[in-house]
Amino acid sequence: MNPDIEKVLVSEEEIAAANKRLGQQLTADYQGKNPLFVCILRGAAMFMMDLIKHVDIPLEYDFMDVSSYGGENTVTTGDVRIIKDLDTSLRDRDVVIVEDIIDTGYTLDRLIELFKTRHANSIKIVSFLDKPSRRIKHVHVDYNGVKIPDEFVVGYGMDYDERYRNLPYVGVLKQEIYSTK
Ligand code: PRP
Ligand code: MN
Ligand code: MG
Repeated sequence: MNPDIEKVLVSEEEIAAANKRLGQQLTADYQGKNPLFVCILRGAAMFMMDLIKHVDIPLEYDFMDVSSYGGENTVTTGDVRIIKDLDTSLRDRDVVIVEDIIDTGYTLDRLIELFKTRHANSIKIVSFLDKPSRRIKHVHVDYNGVKIPDEFVVGYGMDYDERYRNLPYVGVLKQEIYSTK
């Protein structure tokens, strides 16, 4: 295990099981719809690439980069910036927003408002992790991976100051990693 990690919250085995379950649900629900999966960079990149291997129907995907946390901050500012927009039109599409984590809900709340103005046929959300204790904006998550307690997590796409995204599991950092920065 990475020496900066205090404990593993979601193991590789649990991640694989969640992806399989979510993929099967999406496969059943989107038969014949050619959904557009929208990956919210950068955190959701690893999750989406694993998830769609289990979605056994024709689909398309695109990427959007938004950011709510800056640099070393571990709390959101509520300010969601679009850094890279989609290249694909959402008009009449069945959109599946793919997120790694829903925390305060600001990011998804803003994205849903924005996507509604683009005339999607439907908009649903799949989030790998859910941290319900921190919710400020009450966004409905249609497909949920794993609920976690109120701890700052890294790995499986998620970063602290852009590091640790490549860990294959979700973990909690040792306290000294934050305090020595
Ligand atoms: C993180 C995470 C979600 C969002 C969740 O992204 O990946 O997108 O914050 O927080 P919220 O529910 O409080 O809005 P971040 O802005 O850190 O960018 P990143 O994915 O590039 O790390
Ligand atoms: Mn993100
Ligand atoms: Mg981040």
